Amino acid sequence: MLNLESADFGKVKIETLVIPVCEDNDIHDDQTISLLIEKAKGFKEFKGEKGDNLIFYNPDEVNAQRVILLGLGTLEKTDLETLRQAGGRAVKQCIKKDLSEVRIAVPCAGKINLDIASVIEGLMEGAFLGNHLFDRYKQDKKHKPLSEINLLVKPDMVDKFNELLSRVELVCQGSILARDWVTTPSNDKRPEAFTQSIVSLAEQEDLTVTVLDEKELELNKFGGMLAVAAGSLSKPRLLVLEYNPKAAEKTVALVGKGVTFDSGGINLKPSSGLEEMKMDMAGAAAVAATLITAARLKTRVRTIGVIPIVENMPSGNAARPGDIVRSYSGKTVEIENTDAEGRLILIDAISYAIKQYKPQTLIDMATLTGACAVALGEKIAGAFSFDDQLAEGIVFSGKKTHERCWRMPLPEDYKELIKSDLADIKNMSSSRWGGAITAALFLSEFVEDTRWAHIDIAGPAYIEKESDYCGVGGTGFGVRLLCDLLEKL
Ligand code: BES
Ligand code: MG
Ligand code: ZN
Repeated sequence: MLNLESADFGKVKIETLVIPVCEDNDIHDDQTISLLIEKAKGFKEFKGEKGDNLIFYNPDEVNAQRVILLGLGTLEKTDLETLRQAGGRAVKQCIKKDLSEVRIAVPCAGKINLDIASVIEGLMEGAFLGNHLFDRYKQDKKHKPLSEINLLVKPDMVDKFNELLSRVELVCQGSILARDWVTTPSNDKRPEAFTQSIVSLAEQEDLTVTVLDEKELELNKFGGMLAVAAGSLSKPRLLVLEYNPKAAEKTVALVGKGVTFDSGGINLKPSSGLEEMKMDMAGAAAVAATLITAARLKTRVRTIGVIPIVENMPSGNAARPGDIVRSYSGKTVEIENTDAEGRLILIDAISYAIKQYKPQTLIDMATLTGACAVALGEKIAGAFSFDDQLAEGIVFSGKKTHERCWRMPLPEDYKELIKSDLADIKNMSSSRWGGAITAALFLSEFVEDTRWAHIDIAGPAYIEKESDYCGVGGTGFGVRLLCDLLEKL
């Protein structure tokens, strides 16, 4: 589906040629293309500014049905993300025109501040991710994804980047998997069903799959998970995915919050925006998709995904504010607010991961707090760690993949705020402020001496308006980030 092709504009008729254009420089290295750019810039409406778009039909310069010129903006600001966006816009435009394929002219790497591999990677990622539609609930499927995306490169490059291409394809398939899970409505992903959906895919890969059902969770005293699940008719599951490559030296555990619907429980959330709480399993989706992708990519590091899956509902059997439960670790927790449920299931999963697998590094990913979205907005995740190297690694991978993370503090003295009068700890802060931090500090009380990071993705996990390479719904945030990170740990 993703291909590299030699850019000789000879006899074969091209259906659609897309040319990315900078406003202040010719970034291509081809006479035909330069002629087309010059011609486009002769029109007032096209300057090559970001978002500019011009179409020529059957132009004399090239044997193509249509040529779409896409503005990127200035050369200085043209980075990897600009190329992703261009790739996404190119594909989305073709989908809307009911076309079946696209050919994108790859800029000359020497003319922009990127190596050729990055240029190809950026365009391909944007194009592949932009080619994904979530229409399984529509009877009238208006459009179809493109069946072919081709990048036009110099003849000597056609065979050079096959490995890169298949990597991009696998990683993006992982993101799409996570997107689909997150966008799926909660009635079709209640804990048993969501677990099964992950298991059936995981079993096709080189992964060891274990599921603890409600009886095993009771037997082994997963008090946090059981408390959150108590209000729902759907039973909780703890899903463990193990990727055990031979000769691996280190173990990384990934823990993902899987609340298939967060009503808030007895501390019921207000109705506005409640439907969005189907996305409260985005951490679980990202972790599951990352494990599946790691197995496909054959990454070197041993990776264990530990995924607690529950539904947070109010009912006659639900946990009450004021309840005290004993977590898997043995520590008791006062549930001051049933809507702070994510941390209750995460601590059980974290303790279990550490006890069973003794990982060198543990990273949890969760749509944990509205406060984090308030602090960093809808596009940036909060990264918390006591370990500078790990935090920097996450921020670095975030920059590279544009799944951006901003490091947040873990101040010792804020731990005061989660002290309970009656139990070992309470699940809500006594202060209104700094909720993302106190949630992270709560988790930190359960990581023992394991090198740990927490990534709060409450902001970027879901979008209500489509972007250049993502539709409305789950964004798949975290998959590209974690896949990049795993190769560096
Ligand atoms: N799932 C929510 C956090 C959330 C909010 C995710 C908005 C995505 C978008 C979480 O379970 C929650 O309800 N957190 C509470 C914590 C509070 C009760 C201490 C919150 O953020 O208000
Ligand atoms: Mg909640
Ligand atoms: Zn939640």
